[in-house]
Amino acid sequence: LGKESEDVMRRTLLSSWPFMLKQKIGSMHNTLVRDVHQAGSLLGASVQILQSFSGFLMYLLVAINISPIMTAYTIGGGVILLFLLRPFLRRTQRIGQYAAGVEKQFAQFLSEHIIGMKAIKAAGVERPAIKSGTEHIHLLRRLSIRQSLVTTVSSSFFQPFSIALVVLLFFLTYNAPGFNILSFAASLYLIQKIFTYLESGQNGLQSISGLLPYVKNITAFKRDLDAHRERAEGDKPFALHKELVFKEVSFAYEEGMPVLDGISLSVQAGETVGLIGPSGAGKTSIADLLLRLFKPSAGEVFLDGVPSADISLEEWRQHIGYVSQDVFLLNGTIEENIRFYNQALTREDIEDAARQANIYDFIQGLPSGFKTVTGDRGVMLSGGQRQRIALARALAGRPEILILDEATSALDHESEKLIHESIRALHGKVTVFIIAHRPSTVAEADVILVLNRGRIAERGSPQDLLQNTHSYFYKMQQT
Ligand SMILES: Nc1ncnc2c1ncn2[C@@H]1O[C@H](COP(=O)(O)OP(=O)(O)OP(=O)(O)O)[C@@H](O)[C@H]1O
Ligand SMILES: [Mg+2]
Repeated sequence: LGKESEDVMRRTLLSSWPFMLKQKIGSMHNTLVRDVHQAGSLLGASVQILQSFSGFLMYLLVAINISPIMTAYTIGGGVILLFLLRPFLRRTQRIGQYAAGVEKQFAQFLSEHIIGMKAIKAAGVERPAIKSGTEHIHLLRRLSIRQSLVTTVSSSFFQPFSIALVVLLFFLTYNAPGFNILSFAASLYLIQKIFTYLESGQNGLQSISGLLPYVKNITAFKRDLDAHRERAEGDKPFALHKELVFKEVSFAYEEGMPVLDGISLSVQAGETVGLIGPSGAGKTSIADLLLRLFKPSAGEVFLDGVPSADISLEEWRQHIGYVSQDVFLLNGTIEENIRFYNQALTREDIEDAARQANIYDFIQGLPSGFKTVTGDRGVMLSGGQRQRIALARALAGRPEILILDEATSALDHESEKLIHESIRALHGKVTVFIIAHRPSTVAEADVILVLNRGRIAERGSPQDLLQNTHSYFYKMQQT
């Protein structure tokens, strides 16, 4: 069981980002936890069947020895019985399959509503949300009742059937020559044993057919994960000493709906680039391509003339720091959140990064300092504090490329200024992409790129763009 969980978890984390993006968290969680658990009980059911079968066989051999005719009748009865029960087996399987689907939806519903709790409370829609969840639960309850009903009916079939069989056997053999009440009694005992095993085998079969949908679910999920495994492509080392180039890069999440359209740009190593433009213009998509979470549908990204696809993906991700638009924190200590599994970092590295992100004093002011627990998803911190911890995380790895996607949007003017000082200190050493909606955030960039509908609409230094009163950056300054 543990092995199976480990296996599914490993495959899940190693799958590619475009695939993960399409998964529903709830149903993935469900497969990882519940299905694997259910599939574990399959082993128990199989053992039960095996035991019943061997017991059945043993008693059968003895029974044949005592009275072959009676045994033949009994076997005949048993076969008929199993045949009669077949519809029940199929029925449990069908209900099981349906229940697995509903459970999946319910798990999806639960995780969605736990994550979105604040939005639900703020909108005051708890009751309609509860109603919608209750429907799932009622359906699940009805299915489970139906499931146990089918099981009970099919097992209560056994007793009357076996009594009828005994009576029938008595009349059939009573008049036969050489009838012996002693051997009849012995046979009865054996038959009773045989039926016990048959019944337990039947129960085992029934649970297996109820569990099979879960196993199928896991198998299908594993196959899916394998097909979408992120390939460890590229074997050249990561090196950025001269320039980073986007050459005619196009990209689409969905075919036929281009998000980036022939983007060409060249950035000198150590430069700071400001990326601005209206919402939905494709700024985050450029970050996704820089992170190699997606591949361009056309064109290529080059580092010092080497196509990115030829560079080791593992090294690539080690050399790139990223603060996303929606900060993600683990339920752990602040130190763990800055370290983020990077065992190579020393305590000094972490403190330095915290200073650079202008969060050091805040952390030291907490009763437990760096050992303070941030709570699930960092709920114990303010938006700006979370952002600065994420920034410290990105800086701690000493990246060569740093991508900040709205990374200072939740900061007050003072904190933002301090962080800009840190970023200024990186100038010439780290190639920085700053995505922003506030002009002040990109005012010190070497070059600003204005993105609009997947194209670069304007480019130039902040001073150049300010000269042109029609430029996006100029208008941004004005408002
Ligand atoms: N996972 C996705 N699947 C399909 N389309 C997507 C996906 N993510 C983004 N898009 C689309 O791609 C376009 C560009 O999105 P992107 O996130 O790059 O915009 P953005 O410039 O970062 O906007 P914002 O300033 O609001 O963050 C949008 O029109 C959006 O609808
Ligand atoms: Mg964005």
